Amino acid sequence: MSAEKVLITRRVPPPAVELLREAGFAIDLCDQDDPPGRETLLARVPGAAGLVTMLSERVDGELLKAAGPSLRVVANFAVGYDNIDVAACTAAKVRVTNTPGVLTDATADLAWALILAAARRVVEGDRLVRSGQWTGWAPLQLLGLQLTGATLGLVGAGRIGTAVGLRSMGFGMRVLYSDDQVNRELEQRVGAQRLPLDQLIPAADVLSLHVPLTPQTRHLINAARLARMKATAILINTARGPVIDEAALVEALRQRRIAAAGFDVYEHEPRLTPGLAELPNAVLLPHLGSAATATRQKMSQMVAENVIAVLSGREPPNPVN
Ligand code: GLV
Ligand code: GLV
Repeated sequence: MSAEKVLITRRVPPPAVELLREAGFAIDLCDQDDPPGRETLLARVPGAAGLVTMLSERVDGELLKAAGPSLRVVANFAVGYDNIDVAACTAAKVRVTNTPGVLTDATADLAWALILAAARRVVEGDRLVRSGQWTGWAPLQLLGLQLTGATLGLVGAGRIGTAVGLRSMGFGMRVLYSDDQVNRELEQRVGAQRLPLDQLIPAADVLSLHVPLTPQTRHLINAARLARMKATAILINTARGPVIDEAALVEALRQRRIAAAGFDVYEHEPRLTPGLAELPNAVLLPHLGSAATATRQKMSQMVAENVIAVLSGREPPNPVN
């Protein structure tokens, strides 16, 4: 019997390919850094037993049909899995797995990089120095938001939201969060207080999003909610782009109805809503949340372990369905 095929949709760090080869699978690797494109995926997926996907690849009924009955596992190289039609996978008896936990710290660190950069206008300052226009220290130059004593509002307090909240300890911030569940760790360790979203928004100096993308969270931050933020507040998104109505956000930033924003994710990723790139008060990163070397290696190992478990008839360590 020939080896079962595992299709990997992108070049990934070690050890996923090595572990899957050792386990006896035939690897079909889309050997590139950019997304393979829908046609390529549809052409290469037939007959695969396992599929390793990135968050940019849509896994839906069409792709499952193209794969055929051999497919038993879709292992997403990400913690978020809004790119996957989980119900369709369940109906097709395909297990779905993700990579929770291992990227929590890296993503929380990046959220803080954005908080500090947006609050203290780090990128604007860098541009000024490089421009040759800088005339020296000035009392009113690039004044930003002081974090000490400011209020951090976490929208969602799961693993990553909690890690962002705990990191505020060194900055002497008040922490508020909105979540369906009480978060004892945040309440006990940083004195965080739980509030309904519509009370949290006007109270926050830094509003940071940590909810998964679901039908309920799509455009959670819309024009009406942006209008209720403080004019001095900053908005940080390391979750998923469509949680914010990006067109409304561009307007709010342009009219300085909020002070600044820091984004790692975009509504129409990798495309930007017109106007966003021109705004000096937006710090824009290319979806780097989990992009720390050690984290990406752990994600790679996790993905392989999930594929191997399912294809060996065992329960995967990180099941979604
Ligand atoms: C990254 O955005 C992830 O979901 O892992
Ligand atoms: C600033 O550089 C200061 O010395 O106050």
